[in-house]
Amino acid sequence: MKNEIIIAKVEAYIYKMFHSDATGHDYYHMKRVAKMAKYLAEQEHGDVLLCELAGWVHDVADDKLTKDPEKAIIELKLFLASISLSDDQINTIVEIISTVSFRKGQDPKSLAGKIVQDADRLDAIGAMGIARAFAYGGNKNRPIHSEDEQQKQHATIQHFDDKLLLIKDKIKTPTAKRIAIERHTYMEHFLSIFYNEWNSDAYY
Ligand code: ADP
Ligand code: NI
Repeated sequence: MKNEIIIAKVEAYIYKMFHSDATGHDYYHMKRVAKMAKYLAEQEHGDVLLCELAGWVHDVADDKLTKDPEKAIIELKLFLASISLSDDQINTIVEIISTVSFRKGQDPKSLAGKIVQDADRLDAIGAMGIARAFAYGGNKNRPIHSEDEQQKQHATIQHFDDKLLLIKDKIKTPTAKRIAIERHTYMEHFLSIFYNEWNSDAYY
């Protein structure tokens, strides 16, 4: 099967699975991660096809998104075999996504693993990261910010300090690092304006 046809079939499979998600893990997140993984693989001399495919399927076995990650992996393997990927290719894809989606916190060993993890992390920062954080917070009924000490801990704006501002330093590949620095700067700018507007008494 031609690579374009393989990618089109994976895209259709992912569309069916994620098109109605409202937690920031929708089909377009998968698409952005796939395209970014492809770009990073081109720049970093990784395996372009496998990085793009792993980008498409990287959240299939995420325990936040599926009740049974093991079953999700079995189904994914069957699907990938049905579109004529070899056992080696399938095992590589599963290994790549394992540190992104179900062995979180572990460092990927392969270049392809680093690329797909970087692509996923890049989508959590910058303008897209800001939008996804508030979408996620809204989905969980969290306030955007609060002046109550207790509630403040659970506000979405807190997630920037807890996680999003730390991502830049966890990026592994040089190409992704450059993009992360730009996106980080943009988030800092957003946060400074956010707090200015929140604290502004100029209008009242
Ligand atoms: P991953 O992409 O590795 O699955 P998460 O599921 O933790 O990472 O996050 C997915 C998206 O949801 C990210 O954009 C992240 O910033 C956002 N998110 C996760 N937890 C929170 C939270 N507590 N508040 C706001 N956004 C969150
Ligand atoms: Ni993801």
